[in-house]
Amino acid sequence: MTYENFKLRTDEQGIVWVGIDVAGSNVNTMGTPVLAELARLLDEFDAQPPKGVVFHSLKSSGFIAGANIQEFEAIGKTNDVAAATKLILTGYDLYDRLAVVKYPTLALIKGFCMGGGLELAMACRYRVAVDDPGTRMGLPEVMLGILPAWGGVKRLPQLVGAPAAFDLMLSGKTVDAKKAKKLGLADEAVPPRIMWNTASGVLAASPTPRTLPFAQNLMTNGFLRGYVASQAKKQVAKRARPEHYPAPYAIIDLWQKYNGDVHKPAATESCSMQSLLSHSTAKNLIRVFGLREKLKAQAKGIDFKAKHVHVIGAGVMGGDIAAWCALRGITVTLQDLDAARIAPAIKRAADMYRKRLRDERRIRDAMDRLQPDVTGDGAKKADVIIEAIVENLGVKQKVFAELEAKARPDAILATNTSSIPLEQIATALANPARLVGVHFFNPVAQMMLVEIISGAQTNPDVARNATAFVDQIDKLPLACKSAPGFWVNRILAPYLTEAMRCLDEGITPETLDEAALAFGMPMGPVELADVVGLDVCAAVGQVVGGEEALRNAPKKLAAKLEAKELGKKTGKGFYTWVSGKPQKGSASAVPAGLTERLITPMLNEANKALAEGVVTDSDLADAGAIFGCGFAPFTGGPFNYQRSKSA
Ligand code: NAI
Repeated sequence: MTYENFKLRTDEQGIVWVGIDVAGSNVNTMGTPVLAELARLLDEFDAQPPKGVVFHSLKSSGFIAGANIQEFEAIGKTNDVAAATKLILTGYDLYDRLAVVKYPTLALIKGFCMGGGLELAMACRYRVAVDDPGTRMGLPEVMLGILPAWGGVKRLPQLVGAPAAFDLMLSGKTVDAKKAKKLGLADEAVPPRIMWNTASGVLAASPTPRTLPFAQNLMTNGFLRGYVASQAKKQVAKRARPEHYPAPYAIIDLWQKYNGDVHKPAATESCSMQSLLSHSTAKNLIRVFGLREKLKAQAKGIDFKAKHVHVIGAGVMGGDIAAWCALRGITVTLQDLDAARIAPAIKRAADMYRKRLRDERRIRDAMDRLQPDVTGDGAKKADVIIEAIVENLGVKQKVFAELEAKARPDAILATNTSSIPLEQIATALANPARLVGVHFFNPVAQMMLVEIISGAQTNPDVARNATAFVDQIDKLPLACKSAPGFWVNRILAPYLTEAMRCLDEGITPETLDEAALAFGMPMGPVELADVVGLDVCAAVGQVVGGEEALRNAPKKLAAKLEAKELGKKTGKGFYTWVSGKPQKGSASAVPAGLTERLITPMLNEANKALAEGVVTDSDLADAGAIFGCGFAPFTGGPFNYQRSKSA
């Protein structure tokens, strides 16, 4: 029999190697046609049972990236909950069928193995994970407002125990091959060179599949089940409110009440797929997933790849930008006025690599790629040069004049300025068209968005290359016009300023933060201001608000600046900070209208900025607001939110 999405090979031992190669796509995703073919494949194996089956990928991008989200997106647009439910039940039943076949099955996992891909792997009897930097395994459905409905909710707890399974399913986080083996998700974690032999060896030996140790079995299948579920709910409640994010609660309930069987809950129950799919959160989060892809797609087809990045300024931003680029495989030279100023950045980088890479060899390689460069010679060879020195026009102009003289003519000249108009910096250049802004956010490693700023003279090709570079380092590029505050700070400033005015009126920081959390912001405005730094907030407020902001500066903010109480970084701002945490009292009841009072200036500013062409596309701007300043993700962004309110 022939298949469009699978390539079959039977070896001399009678093992069938099923190479997954989804037609017409760079990545394997599980959509309706692929599931239908898998059903046919299982029919074929039923008729003539093989000695064993190995599922592996023929794509360089990984094993299987998950279900075909575009299919869900399309269903979301037409609101066809019945079609989505049918797709879900089909996958669930099919994977159940795979899980009970008589012949041994194995998933050989290299690269991404997510969502519906991991659920397929878990329906196999064995899993061999390839210890390769690209291998990541996880169930990220919760981030789309849905649940792992193809058996994930029942199988993951059986493999790793309920507490570890909730840790993964409720956060959407991923694990590498070694961690997967440690958890019990993978039977083996092996280097690429022995992956094929290991897979056939495991099938030949066909060991009894591992069962949960005693304590974990009690928590997963025994009398501690209810306790584990209630603990998991308590943890979730710290991060997500059920009215905003019903999915994590649904995952826990579906497991506790129905052991993950998606057929069982009534359509009206909150843990049913029908309930989740008809909730606006799932629709908005699935849309945001699409927008994220759209941000990335801006880089498609641009033939620019950086091999060497030179960063000038090894402070908070420059140091972390350099570390991030080296983490992503690029050679980086890092320049500052003297070696002592570069040393803290190198130390921070080492800490980050230890946490993220864990493997000694990979940590060493990343450290080798990050080179201190006091003389600044790296600028002569670099493909991208990023300036991240003090926010001072004269100093930046001087640095760019020198840079232009020594940089390669085709190198990107980029500034990380957050407030100086590009046109002013560019006056120092013989060719001002070369200058582009790449505006990273703090903390660099966590913030996904990078604004690509075009000044009046920026050559569009330079901006396009900068977009490709940002995509290359796995950040999300958003094109913006050089205007005060660009996009993210432009909409953030009026929101923070309004919060400061409320403080002047005597509303407590705790109550203000609670008002924003109730809207769905991940952090309240007062805490955020303390985290960003009150000096930075005041500066951004002035850049966006101009003269008026100076004349009418919030009083308590001015007093904090005067007292040098600048927030988290000085241990005291509007809150006192102990071990990186704000010491909060309890919030009073949020007065009626306070949430709207905080959010409305942000929405108004978003509308103005769009009308002025700061961003060209309201969809991408929605994504920018979510990934750049945490605008309540379940609302789908400021424009989507306003549309839903007026609908
Ligand atoms: P910082 O004060 O932490 O670091 C600046 C570094 O530049 C210092 O290490 C300083 O020694 C070095 N420097 C100054 N003049 C230099 C020169 N002529 N040659 C080489 N190195 C020189 O500043 P931070 O916060 O990292 O900001 C840097 C830039 O990034 C600024 O333009 C700022 O507006 C922007 N930015 C800052 C953000 C933040 O949250 N701190 C966020 C986004 C952008």
